[in-house]
Amino acid sequence: MTGRPPAPDPAPADHAVVPLAPALERRLHALLAAGGRRVLGIAGAPGAGKSTLAAQVAATLGGACVVVPMDGFHLAQSELERIGRADRKGAPDTFDADGYVALLRRLRDPAPGHVVYAPEYRRDLRNPVAGAVAVPADVPLVVTEGNYLLLDDHGFGPVAGLLDESWFVAPPDDLRLARLVARHERYGKPPAAALAWSTGPDAANARLVAPTAARADVVVGPDLLG
Ligand SMILES: Nc1ncnc2c1ncn2[C@@H]1O[C@H](COP(=O)(O)OP(=O)(O)OP(=O)(O)O)[C@@H](O)[C@H]1O
Ligand SMILES: [Mg+2]
Repeated sequence: MTGRPPAPDPAPADHAVVPLAPALERRLHALLAAGGRRVLGIAGAPGAGKSTLAAQVAATLGGACVVVPMDGFHLAQSELERIGRADRKGAPDTFDADGYVALLRRLRDPAPGHVVYAPEYRRDLRNPVAGAVAVPADVPLVVTEGNYLLLDDHGFGPVAGLLDESWFVAPPDDLRLARLVARHERYGKPPAAALAWSTGPDAANARLVAPTAARADVVVGPDLLG
């Protein structure tokens, strides 16, 4: 016994580190070949692996890429409670879609030398945090990811037109569900509650998102996922 206090728990393993499929890497290089600012959107159902894939893109491109999550536009928990929508947090009308669209417009047309700041969602705080993601004007690729990028409703309609390329992440549904349940448990839900939320509100959102795959440039299925 050394008397040293125990090491803190490591951060939850939210984003598995797996290499990007060569076919997707080729698409990235083609997208960037024209020069200037490009915006790639990654859509998909809850727990599909959007954030993981975005992190893979960022790891592949290094400083040439910044990830801007749609999740940053979650309404604050206090506001969801005020308007009575906390019980279906994650549904399209629990986000500030107009704010997200406005940010994408700013990101498409960066003023030289300026930094645009984006919010991020913090699961540990159950709230978004403003100004968490810095996007300098000279960063060639912005990757934005979230459930509703290709939804033509609830204020998200303009998003698709603001993307230079879109990918829809589509793992096998049983795998997606298992990962989603495990992640809810990691963030403190008891197993029964994790399953109930995944097969309740999350599943309703997954059904809403599924048909939007048809609007994507690429459906990233099991053949392209690690
Ligand atoms: N290719 C993969 N290999 C192993 N685990 C993965 C892979 N992709 C995703 N996961 C795991 O699945 C879970 C969900 O992934 P992720 O958080 O990327 O999904 P998401 O689509 O961003 O979810 P949400 O819609 O809730 O934000 C995470 O725990 C992640 O580590
Ligand atoms: Mg995510």
